[in-house]
Amino acid sequence: MSSELILGVETSCDETAAAVVAGGTEVLSSVVSSQVDLHARYGGVVPEVASRAHVELLTPVIAQALVEAGVEGRDLTAVAATAGPGLVGSLLVGVSSAKALSLVWDLPFIAVNHLEAHLYSAFLEEPALELPLVALLVSGGHTQIIVMDGHGSYRVLGQTVDDAAGEAYDKVARYLGLGYPGGPLIDRLAMDGSPMIDFPRPMMDSDYDFSFSGLKTAVINHVRKNPDVAVEDVAASFQEAVVDVLVTKARRAARDVGAKAITLGGGVAANSRLREAILEACVDDGLQGFVPSRSLCTDNAAMVASVGWYRLQSDGPSPLDTGADPNLRLPVTI
Ligand code: KG4
Ligand code: ZN
Repeated sequence: MSSELILGVETSCDETAAAVVAGGTEVLSSVVSSQVDLHARYGGVVPEVASRAHVELLTPVIAQALVEAGVEGRDLTAVAATAGPGLVGSLLVGVSSAKALSLVWDLPFIAVNHLEAHLYSAFLEEPALELPLVALLVSGGHTQIIVMDGHGSYRVLGQTVDDAAGEAYDKVARYLGLGYPGGPLIDRLAMDGSPMIDFPRPMMDSDYDFSFSGLKTAVINHVRKNPDVAVEDVAASFQEAVVDVLVTKARRAARDVGAKAITLGGGVAANSRLREAILEACVDDGLQGFVPSRSLCTDNAAMVASVGWYRLQSDGPSPLDTGADPNLRLPVTI
């Protein structure tokens, strides 16, 4: 394994993160400073608050990542930062800092796509994943089924036509008065409930696209009509409907494209029921199934450094006038 060291920087949303990764897969340090407490009182991420917090937190977070890895700036091979998609003010903090450090240390700068980074959390822990694979990318902002044919070679087979899966978790949790972010709270509550309510499985019969907005409305209507329903059962039933749709479509995609493996990425990939169900499906279908550790599913900079390493080999450094792009798309092959 190459000992090339990449410093990764991640500030696309509400986690300020920095990591040092050797040779694309060996995590020497991964520091994540969550701003969740700052945003919880507003029930969601406030972009201006997030950017200001990144400005305060990023320098100490990078310093800690270097110390924990036992390296200094001059030991590094390159500095990689998430350039999009995400909140533009937040992205700018990470991109500007990474460029400044690359100039000071005279190192290449690499602009990283946040969605590609979520895909690479699987490769960080299991570099021997078989290709082609189907990745289910499920976060607060995205829900996509991606076919990965090779490193840097992707096709998007389907995506949500309205809310992302994580957004649905967050909105249902807010309606139930659980707090923010909703995903982990519903996940925990669902463990004490039973999936007895038969919520709709939207767009189950159409190819690979998703819709979660109607499911959220169905949950709200059910609770309005049945005010005494146990919140644990609502959580478990909602979660079962989401996971059922996600897993059914990922399996269908894997079968249709002849994939050898299925992986998960993004914050919702931390969900207990989804992790269990996708692995069961892979066993049934004779596929390699791999779910990254929870800490690598939610936003972190180790996945950014990993993509930075692969992209440095394939494309070389990014120009220093590369900007932050809040709407950056995954680079697809067709
Ligand atoms: O990938 P991520 O950290 O940030 C984005 O790029 O969006 O994903 C955050 C999303 C939130 O919607 C959060 O509620 C959801 O991931 N999430 C979960 C769980 N942990 C985080 N959803 C379901 N179950 C979980 N355990
Ligand atoms: Zn993310």
